[in-house]
Amino acid sequence: MHILELRHVEKIYGEKENQVKALGDINLKVNPGEFIAIVGTSGSGKSTLLNLMGGLDSPTKGAIYVKGKEIGSLKRKALTIFRRRNIGFVFQNYSLMPVLNVYDNVALPVTFDSGNHLNHGYIEELLKELGIWNKRKKYPQELSGGQQQRVAIARALVNKPAILLADEPTGNLDSATTVEVMGLLKTSCRKYNQTILMVTHNEGIAQICDRIIHIEDGRIVNENNFINTKPSDAGEGGDFTC
Ligand SMILES: Nc1ncnc2c1ncn2[C@@H]1O[C@H](COP(=O)(O)OP(=O)(O)OP(=O)(O)O)[C@@H](O)[C@H]1O
Ligand SMILES: [Mg+2]
Repeated sequence: MHILELRHVEKIYGEKENQVKALGDINLKVNPGEFIAIVGTSGSGKSTLLNLMGGLDSPTKGAIYVKGKEIGSLKRKALTIFRRRNIGFVFQNYSLMPVLNVYDNVALPVTFDSGNHLNHGYIEELLKELGIWNKRKKYPQELSGGQQQRVAIARALVNKPAILLADEPTGNLDSATTVEVMGLLKTSCRKYNQTILMVTHNEGIAQICDRIIHIEDGRIVNENNFINTKPSDAGEGGDFTC
């Protein structure tokens, strides 16, 4: 089963003469454990696509399935819970809580979720993996951009989401930190079989991923563009059609 599937997804913003067609007829199938880059020029619809995939916004037409469930069919409260348990977000601006230290920022999504309990061992493992365990008592403003981004990644992974959606996660970082953060995402993808969809402007960064999806004017313009086919994917090529 595909972990994520989009069928004929369209997104129009605004009304009447102010309408903007941000996405048109997007069809996409994603396998568990895939690391996908979404590239395209500014305004091509990348963030819109990520927001729809994560249930932060709804499509004008079409359907989005996460783990086989059509997210548009969920009521608001059910969607919030489903999203919290299945989808992790990393934004370009980190969006950390300034009044919470690193540890509490990472634990926040678990604290929010009454049906879930705090797994200290896992948070420690994540923070160590990301090299920020020794910063756990620091506040966001005491950290560098790269360190803050790693906290944001740890927070996005803490609920072990089926899918991690990252919008330009390295957009504000220098090139050395970018390589580091990309390495961490790739490790997480392989070690936890984490599915990742990441928006980037940078073709070089995209080359690290398993697949690159090019978007132009709200449409996917490439098909079957493989970079690194994982051994486990052998023979399933037909499933990857965009
Ligand atoms: N909330 C909104 N209301 C109206 N139009 C919007 C809204 N959000 C995005 N758009 C429009 O939809 C189109 C796609 O925007 P989107 O933010 O998805 O692009 P993007 O590829 O993420 O661009 P960038 O690389 O600059 O972040 C653009 O024309 C944009 O102006
Ligand atoms: Mg964007």
